[in-house]
Amino acid sequence: MSATLEAIGLSRRFGGLLAVSDVSLMLRVGQLHAVIGPNGAGKSTLVNLLAGELPPTEGAIRLNNADITAFSAAQRAHAGIGRTFQRTNVMLAMTVLENARLAAQAALVPNRSLLRRAATTTAPIAAAQAALRRVGLDGVGDQAARTLSHGQQRALEIAIALAGQPTVLLLDEPLAGMGAEDGAPIAALMRDLAREHAVLLVEHDMDVVFTVADIVTVMVDGRVLAHGTPAEIRASAAVRDAYLGHEVP
Ligand SMILES: Nc1ncnc2c1ncn2[C@@H]1O[C@H](COP(=O)(O)OP(=O)(O)OP(=O)(O)O)[C@@H](O)[C@H]1O
Ligand SMILES: [Mg+2]
Repeated sequence: MSATLEAIGLSRRFGGLLAVSDVSLMLRVGQLHAVIGPNGAGKSTLVNLLAGELPPTEGAIRLNNADITAFSAAQRAHAGIGRTFQRTNVMLAMTVLENARLAAQAALVPNRSLLRRAATTTAPIAAAQAALRRVGLDGVGDQAARTLSHGQQRALEIAIALAGQPTVLLLDEPLAGMGAEDGAPIAALMRDLAREHAVLLVEHDMDVVFTVADIVTVMVDGRVLAHGTPAEIRASAAVRDAYLGHEVP
């Protein structure tokens, strides 16, 4: 059976605001599952709930049928959940390889005593190098991350997630701030990554979503408005109305 990450009736309240409201979805290896919706719809909050950055107010999360709702972000990384952040989260002063190696070490080495031992092994470095190769940054591993272009930093963000050798990848607007030229190879990479990962992609650009996604969930005001194939979502009057109502093109 292929690996799955399942959200069951997830809700998250911030004071009086229900940022995520009763969201259920299933991510499967081999599928690229896009989550779209206007600003403030709750997309990043949903990613943070799945990644263990935030506890849900209600609901449950299962990985391969095991309940991981109480797992911390670090425990979820060990369990095979990798994520990227909407705002680039790389360590600018460190080299590209160090950024990926630290992520590999954190996710692949189970505890602190082993962490010391792992420093003398090549496993995290090998995982980091493989991740950099996957995103096309293997030629710049020795450079400080701050010397990279914005597009390369976004690629490094993905490599940091891949370095932990996850089965589930949660990507929060990986194309943010990129033009079509930088974005196209990243979009192709995501399509490729979905062959052996369960991918959740948050993305605003409808053209990209309809090109790369297998399944689309549309969120508005924290709730799931629609769920279906790109063709079904494209044809949905409710989706069109929601987007026009929020003045998003
Ligand atoms: N830590 C927090 N504390 C309080 N409110 C929050 C917090 N994080 C998010 N929110 C609120 O929850 C709602 C959903 O935010 P979220 O960032 O999940 O939206 P989004 O769909 O990712 O939007 P965008 O497309 O702009 O990235 C917003 O109203 C936001 O202001
Ligand atoms: Mg967001």
